[in-house]
Amino acid sequence: MSQFLSNCTADAIASAAKRLIAGELVAFPTETVYGLGADASNSKAVARIYSVKGRPSDHPLIVHIASIDRMGDWASDVPEYAIALARKFWPGPMTLVLKRSELAGDFVTGGQDTVGVRVPDHVVALALLEAFEKAGGKGVAAPSANRFGHVSPTTAAAVVEELAGYLSKDDLVLDGGACAVGVESTIIDCTGLLPRVLRPGAISVAMIEKSTGSKVSQGSKEIRVSGSLENHYAPAAKVFLCKTPISGQGFIAHENIETPEGVVRLASPRNDVEFAQILYSALREADTRGLLEVVVLQPIGDGIAYAIRDRLSRAANGR
Ligand code: TXA
Ligand code: MG
Repeated sequence: MSQFLSNCTADAIASAAKRLIAGELVAFPTETVYGLGADASNSKAVARIYSVKGRPSDHPLIVHIASIDRMGDWASDVPEYAIALARKFWPGPMTLVLKRSELAGDFVTGGQDTVGVRVPDHVVALALLEAFEKAGGKGVAAPSANRFGHVSPTTAAAVVEELAGYLSKDDLVLDGGACAVGVESTIIDCTGLLPRVLRPGAISVAMIEKSTGSKVSQGSKEIRVSGSLENHYAPAAKVFLCKTPISGQGFIAHENIETPEGVVRLASPRNDVEFAQILYSALREADTRGLLEVVVLQPIGDGIAYAIRDRLSRAANGR
């Protein structure tokens, strides 16, 4: 077992919160993917996130908080529709991009005048954030706990596989099992008159429109979102989307689709929710098995299926 792995007893979570306060890194489970956390008001600790991930320092991070009550610490001029979204979907797989407060330093926002904020829906994440806030912390900056451009980890073992070579001896990975959603949060820009989706996720456009009574803005906008780079979320294996798999290739498709002779079936999800849950571990499995190519038959439709296609189209552009 890795030296970094920790279980999630009350003591372990209390110790993890102390490490965050002390400026160390703690990777933790959320309902979407595992995050690599640091004290969001500690510029040195946050700088370590960038070096461990190998991520360019002008890419902003999401600040994780224990409840909506902390939103005002990090954001200012929050519009009504953003408050409606937060009330409806937090804790949950949704990040709001808001005008930043003074607390949100350039080292977290990548120098932008906005900040991403999220309350994750996971008992371990919430317990960690609550313990951290009780100890005087304000929020935990956490990107997905993978090297830059790679597939996000949905298990603690995948975090260790990605980052063990870059962590320091006092850093920690809390093992909270496999993530329930499996793809990253929906990111919603809340700095305009209407909400705008920057990255699709489990919270769909229809859900946003229903809960706010407002249309979602469709136009695009120059904004720095590393997860919207054209190549991202990619395994080492080459990903193909519109292709029939041939012998020796990996294959991910809904369970009712048969596996051709000689093809390595990596996953057979029964529905789109399960597709999202297992997608990243199946892509990792392709690399573990040393496969060079993987074919994925994408789900159709809106909501989570749309988020899956978004990630897959980037994965297919390679590393
Ligand atoms: O589900 C998630 O959101 C996970 C878990 C750990 O919470 N986190 C995550 O973080 O996916 P990361 O850093 O891998 O992706 C966050 C995305 C990045 O593409 C970043 O550029 C964007 O959010 N982002 C963060 N703050 C932003 C801001 N102020 N404006 C625009 N985009 C922002
Ligand atoms: Mg990421």
